[in-house]
Amino acid sequence: MKVLVATEKPFAKAAVDGIRRIVEDAGYTLCLLEKYTDKAQLLEAVADVDALIVRSDKVTAEVVAAARNLKIVVRAGAGYDNVDLAACTARGIVVMNTPGQNSNAVAELAIGMMIFMARNQFTPGTGSEIKGKRLGIHAYGNVGRLVGRLGKAMGMEVSAFDPFVSDSSVFEADGVKQVSSVEELYAGSDYVSLHIPATEQTRKSIGYALLTSMPKGATLVNTARKEVIDEEGLSKALAEREDLKYITDIAADTQAALSEQFGKRVFATAKKMGAETAEANINAGLAAASQIVDFFRTGNTRFQVNK
Ligand code: 3PG
Repeated sequence: MKVLVATEKPFAKAAVDGIRRIVEDAGYTLCLLEKYTDKAQLLEAVADVDALIVRSDKVTAEVVAAARNLKIVVRAGAGYDNVDLAACTARGIVVMNTPGQNSNAVAELAIGMMIFMARNQFTPGTGSEIKGKRLGIHAYGNVGRLVGRLGKAMGMEVSAFDPFVSDSSVFEADGVKQVSSVEELYAGSDYVSLHIPATEQTRKSIGYALLTSMPKGATLVNTARKEVIDEEGLSKALAEREDLKYITDIAADTQAALSEQFGKRVFATAKKMGAETAEANINAGLAAASQIVDFFRTGNTRFQVNK
């Protein structure tokens, strides 16, 4: 059995060592394709593998077609919008993610980004504190929940909106106010931290109306996906409201233009780094390897996302 780890953005060495141990202990062979620069390298590498571990690497219909023996793809991380689920399902290939495994790293970055913007991107000048500010969590999943708890620990007033979490005790347990609409969340938050996945429903769903409804001096923090932002609406809102700020871990398609026009009111990391900690790499990478071994041995499909 061949397991390929294909990571354009490689895991930390300790994570790769751990994955290798799990795969080889099971009697399987580990293949490694790291830092590839061309799709052709991925197409060649998947040709004879039975299992595939990826991060944000694009598992397109073309990749699936080239992977003639493929039985399982595990996205070592949360969002699986990079995997063509329909193409996998059509071939009977199981797709899984590793929910929660890199959440703490992303949550810590979200808080760090708030402080970074509150302190003038760590350049001279008077900043502000996040203590006492209103933090709105948009989607209360694994990451959102951790951001909420960290925000509370920092003395923020935290509220959250998640249309898929109907059980109010989830919010109550964290001392977080549950709001009933996305409009209410944005209108009442000095900081909004985005944690929605990129789906047909959420694409370009955050734009001019929501941004301009935010209070004076508000900041939108995006550690989710660039696709959920309506970039035209974002640009228009920033142009109209000179007090608004936007920080993202996934550069916008129009990032250069945004930075040129709005200067230090916008910021994007050079490369998505939310899950870029040794801990998150180890957690997600080892979970992915274990899920593959478990799937082949026992048929466990607990984390399958294309059921
Ligand atoms: C995720 O969905 O798990 C995060 O966006 C992390 O993505 P990455 O593995 O490409 O860093």
